[in-house]
Amino acid sequence: MEKRLFIETVGCQMNMLDSELVVASLRKQGYVLTTKPEEADTLLFNTCSVRAQSENKTYSHLGMLRDLKEKNPEKVIGVMGCMAQNHQHKIFTRAPYVDLIVGPGQLHQIPSMIDKINAGQGKQIEVSLGRKDGTRDQITRSHESFDPLRDPEMRPTPFQAYVRIQIGCDKFCTYCIVPSVRGPEQGRSPEDILRESRHLAEHGTVEITLVGQTVNSYKATDSSGKLWRLADLLAELQEIEGLERIKFVTNYPKDMTRELLEAVRDLSKVSPYLHVPLQSGSDEVLKRMKRGYTVADYREMMARIREMVPGYAVSSDFIVGFCGETEEDFQKTVELVEECRFKNSFIFKYSQREGTRGADLFIDDIPHHVKQQRNNDLLAIQNRISLEDNQKLIGDTVHVLVEGPSKTALKKADEVENPHATQLIGRTHCDRIVVFDGNPRQIGKIMPVVVYDCHAHTLFGEVVTQQCGPELFALG
Ligand code: SAH
Ligand code: SF4
Ligand code: F3S
Repeated sequence: MEKRLFIETVGCQMNMLDSELVVASLRKQGYVLTTKPEEADTLLFNTCSVRAQSENKTYSHLGMLRDLKEKNPEKVIGVMGCMAQNHQHKIFTRAPYVDLIVGPGQLHQIPSMIDKINAGQGKQIEVSLGRKDGTRDQITRSHESFDPLRDPEMRPTPFQAYVRIQIGCDKFCTYCIVPSVRGPEQGRSPEDILRESRHLAEHGTVEITLVGQTVNSYKATDSSGKLWRLADLLAELQEIEGLERIKFVTNYPKDMTRELLEAVRDLSKVSPYLHVPLQSGSDEVLKRMKRGYTVADYREMMARIREMVPGYAVSSDFIVGFCGETEEDFQKTVELVEECRFKNSFIFKYSQREGTRGADLFIDDIPHHVKQQRNNDLLAIQNRISLEDNQKLIGDTVHVLVEGPSKTALKKADEVENPHATQLIGRTHCDRIVVFDGNPRQIGKIMPVVVYDCHAHTLFGEVVTQQCGPELFALG
């Protein structure tokens, strides 16, 4: 009998990929997806612990299911991902109607755990070892990467794919929960990465994004014992027929080597887009965060990128209101944002996480309203810079990988008079979002688009028809 699966995913690219893989493994067992919790037999929440807000949101969404579960006790409710690893049994206490808890290192167990629950064996929990609960080897083995064979039939966007190259993190920035919940850093075997990428390209994937917490720190040995770095992987991926774009996130400032930047410059398929979080523009704050670099190091890295990679775009993350951050520290961050002119920045208010070094060592002493003010101020500056730099692109032709109908187009779907022309959204090689009128047949293709207007985070354009294939002339 057909079973229905509802899944909600929050968090980073790791979670997006994990959800895709879990959905694929359950679809193989006969599940179909539904967007309505009340229709689902199994409801999964793929969760994030990076800030308290992410966890609170999940608890509040779970809370909304209490009545549903009371009326339909046969429904299986599961919490997977980072919060499952972080809170473990506590989730059963706080949300007693949850049946299943599974950490990100145990995802392969989900189908059999659901079977056990359905067979009346009660609540199930599978998590990995904590960072102090065994030898390095034991802990590493308990965090298993979930990399089943990618089935093109089960993929949500056939032309785009995330490819995992690394799990875990060993950087232990003092504010960050990720090393605790995702376990030790492990590079995936280069042979597996290349095999998976070739398989995806053979089945129509044109863009892959290599994912990991610090992908430019990637290190792994192949079966002959040769050491591979990210630059080596990129060089091999460039050769895969059918692949047209290769992106990678996220980067660690200290590991942005000349060799890697040469690869970015020389390999045509590799996007000159680099997400390299700075977090703060003050050396004192960076030191307390234990980021392992100074502002001078970051400036040097930016100079190297400017010198070596034509047409580059750099984006960043910032935490405002970290323990002890003075107004002077914050002004230094503002200066760096002005100086570096990031394409965009993700700005977060510091959220103390139990179990991190930061929570043990420092007091979370910046009042919420100050964090909020700094967040607003920095965002306004970044938005001004993004807008100014986007304006410089007006009149240029950019190459857009078309991802699908824009949100406005989806909202207006019922009103659209001509179903063949609609507003589409896609991204440039540098990851800029572009909206333009086109034909749904263009989805999954790379189109030349001339930019005529912009907002801070969106370019508006028009397809350059004379450069396109004959099928486009039908558009008129
Ligand atoms: N591995 C990536 C970041 C992963 S978390 C890297 O090192 O760049 C994504 C972002 O969340 C971080 O860059 C940081 O800006 C933010 N973040 C992490 N922990 C946080 C916390 N405790 N409070 C607020 N923001 C946090
Ligand atoms: Fe967290 Fe730092 Fe690792 Fe990024 S590098 S995941 S911020 S500990
Ligand atoms: Fe969140 Fe886990 Fe990613 S804590 S940011 S989903 S690795």
